[in-house]
Amino acid sequence: MKAVVYTKRGLPDKLIYRDVEKPCPGDNEVLIKIVAVSANAADFRSMSMGIIPKKRIFGADIAGRVESVGKNIRLFKPGDEVLGDLARYGFGGFAEYAVAPEKALILKPAKISFEEAAALPMAGITALQAMRDKGNIQEGQKVLIAGSGGGVGTFAVQLAKYFGAEVTAVCSSKNVEQTGSLGADHVIDYTKEDFTKSDRRYDLILAVNGNRPLFAYKRILYPDGIYVMIGGGLLQIFKSILFGWLMSFGSKKMCFLTAKSNQKDLEFIAKLVEDGKIRPVIDRRYSLDKTADAIRYLREGHARGKVVINVG
Ligand SMILES: NC(=O)c1ccc[n+]([C@@H]2O[C@H](COP(=O)([O-])OP(=O)(O)OC[C@H]3O[C@@H](n4cnc5c(N)ncnc54)[C@H](OP(=O)(O)O)[C@@H]3O)[C@@H](O)[C@H]2O)c1
Repeated sequence: MKAVVYTKRGLPDKLIYRDVEKPCPGDNEVLIKIVAVSANAADFRSMSMGIIPKKRIFGADIAGRVESVGKNIRLFKPGDEVLGDLARYGFGGFAEYAVAPEKALILKPAKISFEEAAALPMAGITALQAMRDKGNIQEGQKVLIAGSGGGVGTFAVQLAKYFGAEVTAVCSSKNVEQTGSLGADHVIDYTKEDFTKSDRRYDLILAVNGNRPLFAYKRILYPDGIYVMIGGGLLQIFKSILFGWLMSFGSKKMCFLTAKSNQKDLEFIAKLVEDGKIRPVIDRRYSLDKTADAIRYLREGHARGKVVINVG
């Protein structure tokens, strides 16, 4: 089969499109013929940190058809259309075929295209778990989403509206219109206004991208408000992990979330898409042999939604 193999520690140029052996499912695995896979910051961040999957193939968010199943598989059969997140199971999505345990997968609703399905898992689940689980989002709350333009941000805006919040979203000028069309009540262009210096206060801040001092975020929280950091610069992430607990003395809480995909949350997100309550925003599409270009584009840090690679 064709796959994109990571050859050496370094930049996306080390991703080589070539023939490799087709994987064979173990007793507890499903073999999937991949139709679409989306790229995530997790792919290039793992590359630059030297965290390399065993088969040297990145790609987590997959959608495709079940080709065959191991003897202990109960939930899926050949021909089923599935989607899933392979990040916790060795990646392997930048390829024509991948194997996964059944807990990594759900059935793809027929109404959702393979491209849309591949765009959902990591970004959708991160936004969901950050706001619903860590942030305990409630109807009527004022929510700030800092970094609304990318994969996670576009889901976060729509999910916050779905949960009934009043949403203020922060992005650059080119994403103002798109963010408004996703339902944000107020959109702040960070090239024109510093949201940390305004008088507005928030019950929940989701820090997706763009680094502001932690004290500045804390200042614009209401008492009992919570700041949930999920992304941005690595230094900022380390600061949130190291100092968040220290800054959480008192009524305002500051924390970091590492999202963990699971079938229940994947089904929740997929159902919202199926019912037309939210939609994945797809910025660019690439073919499998152009995966290095897709990663290079994503690494620039200004994707407008998800970047999808069409495989089959
Ligand atoms: N903690 C977890 O479990 C978890 C899971 C998934 C992702 N993440 C992290 O979450 C972050 C976002 O992921 P993603 O998939 O959404 O990435 P992405 O699609 O590459 O996000 C790019 C977006 O970030 C925006 N951005 C860049 N600089 C900004 C700034 N200064 N202020 C506001 N927005 C800015 C860009 O919008 P503009 O062009 O408008 O600037 C662009 O739309 C990454 O750091 C990723 O590593 C964490």
